[in-house]
Order: sequence, then C-alpha cells, then structure tokens
Amino acid sequence: MENITIFDTTLRDGEQCPGASMNLREKLEVAQQLSRLNVDVIEAGFPIASPGDFEAVQTIAKEIKGPTIAGLARSLKKDIDRAAEALKKNKNRRIHVFLATSKIHMKYKLKKAEDEILKQAVDSVKYARKFTTDVEFSPEDASRTEPAFLAQVVQAVIKAGARTVNIPDTVGYAIPGEFGKLIRYLREHAPATDKAIISVHCHNDLGLAVANSLEAVKNGARQIECTINGIGERAGNASMEEIAMAIKTRKDYFKGLKTNIKTKEIMKASRMVSLITGMVVQPNKAIVGENAFAHESGIHQDGILKERETYEIMNPADVGLSESKLVMGKHSGRHAFKSRLNKLGIKLSDKELDQAFERFKKLADKKKTIYDEDLTAIIEDEISSIPEAYSLEYISVSSGNKTVPTATVKLIKDKKVIQDAACGDGPVDAALKTIDRIVGLKGELLEYNIHSVTRGKDALGEVSVRVKTSKGTAIGKSASTDVIEASAKAYLNACNKVLYYSQKKGKQKKGSSFV
Ligand code: KIV
Ligand code: ZN
Repeated sequence: MENITIFDTTLRDGEQCPGASMNLREKLEVAQQLSRLNVDVIEAGFPIASPGDFEAVQTIAKEIKGPTIAGLARSLKKDIDRAAEALKKNKNRRIHVFLATSKIHMKYKLKKAEDEILKQAVDSVKYARKFTTDVEFSPEDASRTEPAFLAQVVQAVIKAGARTVNIPDTVGYAIPGEFGKLIRYLREHAPATDKAIISVHCHNDLGLAVANSLEAVKNGARQIECTINGIGERAGNASMEEIAMAIKTRKDYFKGLKTNIKTKEIMKASRMVSLITGMVVQPNKAIVGENAFAHESGIHQDGILKERETYEIMNPADVGLSESKLVMGKHSGRHAFKSRLNKLGIKLSDKELDQAFERFKKLADKKKTIYDEDLTAIIEDEISSIPEAYSLEYISVSSGNKTVPTATVKLIKDKKVIQDAACGDGPVDAALKTIDRIVGLKGELLEYNIHSVTRGKDALGEVSVRVKTSKGTAIGKSASTDVIEASAKAYLNACNKVLYYSQKKGKQKKGSSFV
C-alpha cells in the first residue's frame, strides 16, 4: 500500500482563522492529540510571525516525538533562520518555505517579475537546506499561476533541494477536474517531480477543498495538507477527518492507497479543537458533526436496527463514537421506540407498548426532541404510577454543629412497619443510609438537585436524585417544605422504581438504567 502523507496544519493555517488563536498550553495539547492520531507532519506554526508562535513551534519541536514538525517561513533568510532556530531540537524537522507565483500576487503584492521570483524561490530552498534535508516549497496561489511558469518553478525548486512541492489552492478557486489536471500537467512538464512528493493544500471557499485534494491524489499527489474540523482562513482548509475517512471508506476507489491516521482518535481531536478554539462544529458536518451518525426517519431507524449498513457507510466506532444515534422524534417508528425502551431497561407488553407509542407520537408532534426522561415519564404514566413497594411513614433526624447526624426512619411495606436508624455525614446522608438498611439496596447518589418551587422561607423544596444501585439506576423526585423529608422521599421514589423495573424485567441484565 502506498501512503498518503497527512500534513496537519491546524496549528498554523487552522489557527489563522478569525477567533481561533490558541495559547501555548492549548497548542501543545492539540499537538499531542495530533500525534495520537498519527498524522505524519504537524505544521506547528509560523515562527517569525510572533514571539508566541516561535515559542509554540519550539516547544512542540522539543516535546513531540514521532511526527515530523514543520515551521513555515517566507522565502526570506530572516524567516528561514527563525524557523530553523525554533525547530532545531527535533531531528525530524521540516522547513516549509513559500512564495507567491501567480500574476496577480507577483504584480500587486510582491512587485516582482517572474525571473526574480524564480531566483528567490531557488535561493530560499538552497538556504533552508543548510538547516535540514527536509525542505518543502509552496508556490502560493498555484492554482491561479500560469501552468508553464508553475512547472518551471516546481522543476527548479526540486533541483535546488526541495523534497516536497506543495501546490496550494490558496483562494479556494479550483474545481476538482481542473485541479487534478494541473497535478498531472506538473508531473508531465516538471520531470523532477519524480524525485519529490507532490503535495496539495486546498482552501474551501467553494466548498471543494476535500474534493480537490482527493482528485489531486487520483492524479499523483501523495501529501495532503489539512486541518481538524476543516478550520482555517476564511471558509477553512480541507478537513482532515473527511480525507482520512474517504480514503479508508472508498478503498475500492483509492486502490492501493492508505493513510496512517488512527481514525478512532478523530472524535476526540475534533472535540478538543472545537472546545479550545470555540469554533463550533455544524451539526451536519461530515464525520464529526452531531448528526453525522444520527437517524430520525422511521424508515431509516428500522433499517439501521435490522442491519446498520442499510443507512451507514461508516462504522461510528471507526471514528471513536460508541454507536449510531437513533433520535426519538415525530418521524420515529414503533421499532425504534421499542428498541430505545429496551436500551433503557424497560420491557412492555404489546398492549402497553401500543398505548405508550401512541402517547409518544402525540408528544413528538409538540416537542422537537424527545429525551429519555420524556420516555420514562410516558411509561410511568401509561402503566399507572410505579407501585410503591415502600412508603415513608415517619422520619426524624437529629443534627447540629456538635452532634453526629442521626436518622430514624419508619417505612411501610405490605402494611408492615419497618424501623431502623443510622448515622451519617449530614442529615440527608443519615436519612438515606437508613433507607438503604431497610430496603436492602446500597444506592450511590449520582446526582442530587434541590430547588425551591416558590418564593419565601416556607417554600416547598423540590428534590430530584439519580440513584445507582446494583439492580439499576433511576431518577426519583419529591417535594416538601422539609427538605430532609423531600430528600428521603425522592430517594425512596428512585428505590421503588429500581425494585419495580428489576422485578418486571426479571431476566434482564444487572445495572440497567431506568431513566
Ligand atoms: O494557502 C496557502 O497558500 C498557504 C501557503 C502558505 C501554503 O497557506
Ligand atoms: Zn493556506
């Protein structure tokens, strides 16, 4: 298999997008994740751009072993010196020099003629080679450069020592068929390309960055420059996760080609970059969007439940997700509804299921997203409220700043009163421990929320708890003007649910969630 080098520029071009700047610690964290993803090259920054960029490249070059670490430089000695200095602690270092070659850039930005540009490009590559054998050259705005001149530059910089020649579609102007042809043209008209790797670097102004990169690969490019979540200048760069998954998923099309990416690390990288940069990933973004593996249509949900591949071309586990998501909403069918309830540990008779499904459909017409809590509320209502195995008859708690909190609790079960007492770290703890002793469940309080229902010192306190026991997990709720009583009742409510469902499910697995 031939490898497509993945050159990640999240920390350089990605960071150039408005509002996405990262501090040193954050850059290092991202670089560590890129290394776990197993990218081949990390472009860590543009050392001459600022002291902060210099320090980031220097630190990453020192700390990250494995991938090659690249630093960007204009085709100027002072830039190359700075990049070389920042990278010197890493033996796998690359200096990436660039110089614009399109007519519009040469005339207005650089005010230089073709022969001057050609000379400057060659000189800068030769100079960079003094610091490392791994030199990459980018003719900026290549896709708008005269092809014949581009071929001349490419041929000359490879002869001067560039091991990689990168063809940037700097302004996202290219169209896949045309960009592919350009790569082929360069291979035919710059014979030195046999001795170097052709890379591509595509921007997404027309939404074609990934398509252009893949078409370039089909035409002989062997390195792709890209970023996590496709972040970057303006509309961004080619998205790393889309490229890696396209090559993996369509092996039949990209015959004999592969990347080294550990795709199971993709979600983690995407979330990390989104969190650090504050660049939210759109829900329908390919591979890493919230909805990329979510299905709401009843027909699709039914298909997925029968055979995942009916509606999924990739396995969510391959990108680091635990499973596909069936979103419960008005388009969901009975099959998905039943399957979701089973996942929650709830099994109903056919009749109960029919009634519950009807209520679910009515609710889904009014409410956009139906959460698991909504489903359990429907079920509890439908099959009449959960029968109380235990009810609270009496509770007394003594507590104070100099006493050991102690609770005495009387519960009624099958018309019999059962009493016990226990100490705890506080009055609530003492009350719940006493309930545990009577009920015989050792509950772990996963969540405890209390809020006042109305205003005033005499307001009702509403307590909701989420309790985990060896027989399952459940939510309990209660309200009282006495918050200790409300806590005990909410806890008991959760215990009663656990007992009811675990009995009802009989043979079901231990530890299911009833919420
Ligand atoms: O978009 C571009 O042309 C670049 C170069 C510096 C490679 O980012
Ligand atoms: Zn760029």
